[in-house]
Amino acid sequence: MDQTRPKTSPKHFQDEDRYRRLIDAITDYAIFMLDAHGCVSSWNPGAQRFKGYTAAEILGQHFSQFYTPEDRVAGVPAKALRAAAAGRFEAEGWRLRKDGTRFWAHVVIDPIREPSGELVGFAKITRDLTDQHEAERERDDARQALLQSQKLDALGQLTGGIAHDFNNLLMTIIGGLDLVRKRLPPDPKTTLLVQNAMQAAQRGSALVQRMLAFARRQPLDLRPVEAPALVRGIAEMLRRSLGAGVRISMRFAGDLRPALTDPNQLENALVNLALNARDAMPGGGTIFIEADRRMVMEGQEGGLAPGAYLRLSVRDTGHGMDAHTLARAKEPFFTTKGVGAGAGLGLSMAHGLAEQSGGRLTMASRLGEGTVVELWLPEAPEASRVTGAPSADELSQSVEISGSPMVILAVDDDALVLLNTTAMLEDLGHRVLTATAADEAMGVLAREDVDLVITDYAMPDVDGLKLAGMIRDRWPDTTVMLATGYAELPEGQGEGLLRLSKPYLQSDLTRAIAAARACRA
Ligand SMILES: Nc1ncnc2c1ncn2[C@@H]1O[C@H](COP(=O)(O)OP(=O)(O)OP(=O)(O)O)[C@@H](O)[C@H]1O
Ligand SMILES: [Mg+2]
Repeated sequence: MDQTRPKTSPKHFQDEDRYRRLIDAITDYAIFMLDAHGCVSSWNPGAQRFKGYTAAEILGQHFSQFYTPEDRVAGVPAKALRAAAAGRFEAEGWRLRKDGTRFWAHVVIDPIREPSGELVGFAKITRDLTDQHEAERERDDARQALLQSQKLDALGQLTGGIAHDFNNLLMTIIGGLDLVRKRLPPDPKTTLLVQNAMQAAQRGSALVQRMLAFARRQPLDLRPVEAPALVRGIAEMLRRSLGAGVRISMRFAGDLRPALTDPNQLENALVNLALNARDAMPGGGTIFIEADRRMVMEGQEGGLAPGAYLRLSVRDTGHGMDAHTLARAKEPFFTTKGVGAGAGLGLSMAHGLAEQSGGRLTMASRLGEGTVVELWLPEAPEASRVTGAPSADELSQSVEISGSPMVILAVDDDALVLLNTTAMLEDLGHRVLTATAADEAMGVLAREDVDLVITDYAMPDVDGLKLAGMIRDRWPDTTVMLATGYAELPEGQGEGLLRLSKPYLQSDLTRAIAAARACRA
């Protein structure tokens, strides 16, 4: 016997024993060996603990059974051994337990060689990182969601700012054209030109309204809305505009309660969603519009306040969206429809409406499998007749439009808008006083006897809402009307005030003044 071989020395036995006890004491790592062909040749308690096999069950089996079927088909186990034989293999991935469940593993495989260099097997160390992996994934998801909502917020601010300025410009153009039209000599050519210009300006205004909707800065007329009646009301129009190949199927749960939202804006949103569905089904198909009641508990449904919601969904069986499109679909001006075909504002405005109503818009879609968009809208409180001033529209239906001339104070920090409003009011026969800021307005009111104040909301220093409060304190009998296209009014404020949406035509002013008269009467 060769006494010099270290393998047989008592010292060696001692070392090997200590080494074995060390390996057996480790339960957080699976430490085991494979022979040169990949069959398991040793097993430790750690391996048994999280892979589930006892040593008797697994010794002699091929290690590829720890891999998922997909990985086995892709030849991952063989590649791992080849990489290990060439030096070292290290990777993370899903592995299987004996009971078939998956765990996220960190794996290192090192080659074991004879001093001669001959490969005799592999040492394999596996760690179960499932918890860590899940926590990382959740953190990633949360980070992504936060980034996405920050991006939408930033876009909202930008869009809202641009829309606000454009709204004022359009207001001047539309108002001016409205007056010019009345004063034109009866020349058909000129009339046509002015009409065209007016139509273009109104289209611009519709675009601006959608931008404001996305930015959650449109003046909303919140009231209890019966979804089935509203959907049935627009179904006929939808059928006509969607074309022959597209069917609409409606289904509403029996226990629905009214939602609190703006009915006109909700109609717009639904029309947008239906048009999107149609565009996704060029060969025709069915659009399913459905509604049911959902209760949201604290902490559920991604940040929705607890309470009862109406879930209104629009589903199609069209071409669907890939992950990139789905992630960006709500962004303003994101469209895949090509120049002139889509503005990319439909989903943005529907999203803005849902958020501004205290709800949410969610989307699910897969390429080739269709899309479902859900609008979650909070239910209206029991027996609510929404508080707040009746809209000018509502009042005008019951009052006579004409009346004696009034003294009207127009307040706006934008000189062009002010000039335009003045021209329209004077044209209606009223005496008009003007101010470009709140203190100036208070000065005018102190000197003059004013019947009605029409003030802009968004003004620097003192806004229209504060001015209205100051006027109410000193002259409680003076009627104040708030003109706004940028109505990010603080929650619950501005109630009891008459409203006028910008941009307005002379006819809108006429109706609003009639409403003001009705309030004074
Ligand atoms: N139902 C759907 N199926 C497939 N893709 C959709 C669907 N709805 C929206 N999308 C995708 O999302 C994009 C943005 O939709 P959005 O409604 O905001 O704008 P748009 O339809 O392109 O233009 P606009 O609505 O302003 O006319 C679309 O261009 C399309 O790529
Ligand atoms: Mg659209």
